[in-house]
Amino acid sequence: MCSGVYGQGRQNFDSNWRFFFGDDSLARYPEYDDSKWRKLDLPHDWSIEGTFDEKASSTTNEGALPTGIGWYRKSFTLPVSSKGKNTCIDFDGIYKNSEVWINGHYLGKRPNGYISFRYDLTSYLNYARPNVIAVKVDNSEQPNSRWYSGSGIYRNVWLVTAGKIHLGHWATFITTPKINQTEALVNVSVPIGNSYPNNAAAKDSFMVIPLSLEISIYDMSNQKIAVARPVVVGLANNNFKPFDQTLVIKSPHLWSVNHPYLYRVEMKLGVDGSILDTYTTTFGIRTFNFDKDKGFSLNGQPLKIQGVCEHHDLGGLGAAVNTAAIAHKLRILKAMGCNAIRTAHNPPAPEFLDLCDKMGFLVMDEAFDMWAKKKNKYDYARDWKDWYKTDLEDQIKCDRNHPCVFIWSIGNEIREQFDTSGIRIAKELVGIAKGLDPTRPVTSALSENRPEKNFIYQSHALDLVGLNYHIESYADFPKNYPGEKFIATETMSALETRGHYDPVSDTTLKWPHNSKSKFTDGNADLTVSAYDNVAAYWGSTHEETWKIIKKYPYLSGMFVWTGFDYLGEPTPYPWPARSSYFGIIDLAGFPKDVYYMYQSEWTDKPVLHILPHWNWQPGMVVDVWAYYSKADEVELFINGKSLGIKRKQGDDLHVAWKVPYEPGTLQAISRLNGKTVLIQEVKTAGAPAKIELIPDRPTLVADGKDLSYITVRIVDAQGNLVPDANNLINFSITGSGSLAGADNGSQTSLESFKADHHKAFNGLCMAIVQSTAKTGPIIIKASSPGLKTQSIVIHAK
Ligand code: GAL
Repeated sequence: MCSGVYGQGRQNFDSNWRFFFGDDSLARYPEYDDSKWRKLDLPHDWSIEGTFDEKASSTTNEGALPTGIGWYRKSFTLPVSSKGKNTCIDFDGIYKNSEVWINGHYLGKRPNGYISFRYDLTSYLNYARPNVIAVKVDNSEQPNSRWYSGSGIYRNVWLVTAGKIHLGHWATFITTPKINQTEALVNVSVPIGNSYPNNAAAKDSFMVIPLSLEISIYDMSNQKIAVARPVVVGLANNNFKPFDQTLVIKSPHLWSVNHPYLYRVEMKLGVDGSILDTYTTTFGIRTFNFDKDKGFSLNGQPLKIQGVCEHHDLGGLGAAVNTAAIAHKLRILKAMGCNAIRTAHNPPAPEFLDLCDKMGFLVMDEAFDMWAKKKNKYDYARDWKDWYKTDLEDQIKCDRNHPCVFIWSIGNEIREQFDTSGIRIAKELVGIAKGLDPTRPVTSALSENRPEKNFIYQSHALDLVGLNYHIESYADFPKNYPGEKFIATETMSALETRGHYDPVSDTTLKWPHNSKSKFTDGNADLTVSAYDNVAAYWGSTHEETWKIIKKYPYLSGMFVWTGFDYLGEPTPYPWPARSSYFGIIDLAGFPKDVYYMYQSEWTDKPVLHILPHWNWQPGMVVDVWAYYSKADEVELFINGKSLGIKRKQGDDLHVAWKVPYEPGTLQAISRLNGKTVLIQEVKTAGAPAKIELIPDRPTLVADGKDLSYITVRIVDAQGNLVPDANNLINFSITGSGSLAGADNGSQTSLESFKADHHKAFNGLCMAIVQSTAKTGPIIIKASSPGLKTQSIVIHAK
């Protein structure tokens, strides 16, 4: 279900499904016996429940987890009162090739795994007798993706019942054509549908019954601040038509990344005083602009786009949408100062956009990773011809009322950029996007940075030139692309393993070195050092890239590849590496050190962060780095002895010392005008002695979905994190919660995310605890041979 809530009979349809991993064509028939199938609630991703396998047809690029075919069935009964109404089912996303039957009638197929779609069930339904909906999901042809996709009905499902005369699906469009300090004009275009058949008795028809449409706007304190009450007549049977109204909001509050102010619009369709249908959605009022010289501005204020690219997986929870898990990721990004997200490389779940609206993130909403030319044998290129138009239209209609969405991207590193078909297709796709939403710029993330060789660029249809990588070309951008506006749609591809440090940090490495030779270097344990000094050959380190973006005002900003590590694409290593090294944050949600570089640059918060840990071999000389902000110097001490004061010079983003190792305490003090701002210490840790459990949220909603992320730290007797601890931890969760998953952020761990035990990695592990529908305490116990057992209690309310 796209943004907004349809009032009449919109129900979540996630509970009580049956699932079978395998294929049985008879399962489409209502009388089929599914009593032995597994019972589950959606959203569901069967891949994440499986075992990592080197031979998986999905390959390590997709996470080396099982794919295949699965079936879902649900039996449901509608009351007699639903008879005469329209009943539809909305799927927010099924990966992939879904086919749906209702009571044995075939409703259709949807190849795209990331798109929201609807089927009208009305003609095939029983009332007061069971109905059976059957869904076949076919993710068996592999490889079909360049990253972990998940498999199954991994987004929410809704059942929507409305009268024959109703407010239309998705087509509502809210725009703000005029905005100033005194007032904003809000245009609401809402379609009214009449689904009586053409031959219906005239007395039922909309033609003879004047309908009233009430549109009200509420502010965040729930005050009704604008209202319109048009009377609507003249819509024929089996037809629908948009009705436009303009409302005025006085002294509007603007939506921004720091103050994400949302208004609510409620629409009520009525006849003779009774209500036929309602629809509620939120929207925001903001202006933004891209300027060829000055870059991006939001509400008239310059704003550098400090963005990250994100794939859709939720780490150890896989692809199955969970609002609390998405919110958890966004909170970590927000605290880093990130203000924008690119949904790489597909349309996101509605819950993701709702959260970005509420939390204040700009979103570059991307449609495709390929057009007609494939990147993988079985990918969407096979469906392109029949589906691109429908899929792109549905994406835009679904997402266009979200104030967070500020750029449409028609594709990532599309192969047609290299031949003239790129001109034709780009023009057509931009035309589709503009036809449905003339208010937002359209870009495409281009990897060919030479304008004369890039045919998508040569379509001259893009509002913004989006370039991936090639930071060496940024300085010449105004010369090479005269008059164009620029955004770095993808940058970095720097590599790190959280908590792992190779002692020499002052050489920048390219891993892999090039496209020609097989990468055989690297670390034997498939780690990559977490000093920011390793990147893929097409990329660059975080620091060198951000310095350039920061330097030129015409560079409106960038999207780092990536915010979080994701499953799949374990560049530069082969199996058993199975998840990416690109994240600023690891797969379990633990920040890597470079997170604090961004925090020092992107927030107003004083930051002081030193690396690495302080457990080394005697005689070693160790590079110590400090990221800091809101201070003008940092002094480093080893066991109380000063190692000198350092100050960032020029465009430096960190300071560093070479320190002859001695065990003990490394202490950093940041100062501003001689006054201490922050102190940070890292101590040499002894043997693992205890487990610490730290919940991010001590109170959960008892809705069976909410999550608390419990940081598990392996510490020595004094409470210092043991930086190489990999103890096996056994979890026991009792009371009103259960373990939804566990992960440690290692890119090579082949442990199950779903088991009740998991090893720590470099001292840390994450246990994700989910509430049940019952209120009460949740007791989390963690034990490990040789360590003191620890338990904590959180609460579901
Ligand atoms: C880019 C691509 C991304 C990802 C990244 C890895 O070229 O757009 O999807 O593959 O490389 O560095």
